[in-house]
Amino acid sequence: MTTQQREISLARGLKGVYLDTTESSDVQGDIGKLIYRGYNIHDLAEQSTFEETIYLLLYGKLPTRAQLNQFGATLHQSGKVPGPVIDIIRSVQKSHPMDVLRTAVSALSAFDPETEDNSPEATLRKGIRLTAQTPTIVCAHDRIRHGLKPVEPNPSLNFAANFLYMLKGEAPSEADTKLMDTDFILHADHGSNASAFGARVAASTLADLHCAVVAGVATLKGPWHGGAAEKVMEMALEIGEESKALSYIEDRLKKGDRVMGFGHRVYTAEDPRARHLRDRAKALGDRMGQPKWWRILSAVEERMRPYARRGICVNVDFWSGSIYYLLGIPEDLFISIFAIGRVPGWAVQVLEQQKNNILIRPLLKYVGPMDVPYVPIDQRS
Ligand SMILES: CC(C)(COP(=O)(O)OP(=O)(O)OC[C@H]1O[C@@H](n2cnc3c(N)ncnc32)[C@H](O)[C@@H]1OP(=O)(O)O)[C@@H](O)C(=O)NCCC(=O)NCCS
Repeated sequence: MTTQQREISLARGLKGVYLDTTESSDVQGDIGKLIYRGYNIHDLAEQSTFEETIYLLLYGKLPTRAQLNQFGATLHQSGKVPGPVIDIIRSVQKSHPMDVLRTAVSALSAFDPETEDNSPEATLRKGIRLTAQTPTIVCAHDRIRHGLKPVEPNPSLNFAANFLYMLKGEAPSEADTKLMDTDFILHADHGSNASAFGARVAASTLADLHCAVVAGVATLKGPWHGGAAEKVMEMALEIGEESKALSYIEDRLKKGDRVMGFGHRVYTAEDPRARHLRDRAKALGDRMGQPKWWRILSAVEERMRPYARRGICVNVDFWSGSIYYLLGIPEDLFISIFAIGRVPGWAVQVLEQQKNNILIRPLLKYVGPMDVPYVPIDQRS
């Protein structure tokens, strides 16, 4: 029997398909549980730091204090981006920040001493460097496009504080730092999400980590993946006030449009990351004297509550956008913040792919015409 005659069952969008095994993160969508290397995301969000979480993902265990200090120092030393890459950022500054990030990561491969080395040791070192360089790129671009000079990383600040410092040029408060730190922890890895899958596909061809991270950044950009937070804030700004939220959502649903920040391919119960940002978004809004965004979003959440019965629940992006907005971060940078948090997840999944590699190459069922006679160009009508 030929492939054409055989009954083929399609898994469109690879829904429900297990691609491989992983020891990095587990998304248990039916019970709303997320773990990194065995640790519950709730414990990490409340008690860990982003540096510690990166270490956990990359090395498979929590660090001792000495290991964490050493790792933090390595991260700090790795954050510098070569001058020629800054020049490239300058020349493409008008593009969307995710396009600039994609271009800059690609350009970094020309300056990394180990680009072509796919050994686990080199891939791990490159993963650490890319994790540290990503915020430098994002912040340098934002400052350049606003006519400002890029700010060098400050070795006395932690990862999250340094991000805000390089973006704004002033050291952030402890509360803002903690907020960013938690946000990065929540975004660090997430099973076979679209961008990690994109990174794995690239790695499965034996392409190097820079290629895989470029694929990850490219895949993250879309509004059905990393772009949702930006769209949620756009929606909150369009709604403008709490009393208009209900009619806005009714209109949207009537037109058959999706409400951004709801639904997930894997979570049919709570997205466990969302609750950490929900409470923090409220506290931040109150602290900044701008409680209205949280109220608008809460009204949207309330209207969407019946959708939970269909497994369409609020997701992490619903709350993160309002936090970035209140921190004074431009909306088109929201996806880049997601990318900064996700680089360790891409790196660890590439390491796993390389360790037990198999080319990722699914099939497509051909449904087009068959055996069409070739007509020479002069005889075509
Ligand atoms: C994330 C997402 C792409 C997952 O989609 P998926 O698993 O492929 O599910 P489907 O696209 O098949 O949607 C299933 C049904 O739920 C509906 N649905 C899914 N998300 C919805 C949303 N945010 N608002 C309204 N309806 C939604 C779809 O319209 C579809 O309805 P139908 O069966 O009547 O056609 C989808 O939920 C979405 O577009 N959400 C908004 C974007 C977002 O917040 N992304 C960030 C994810 S962390």
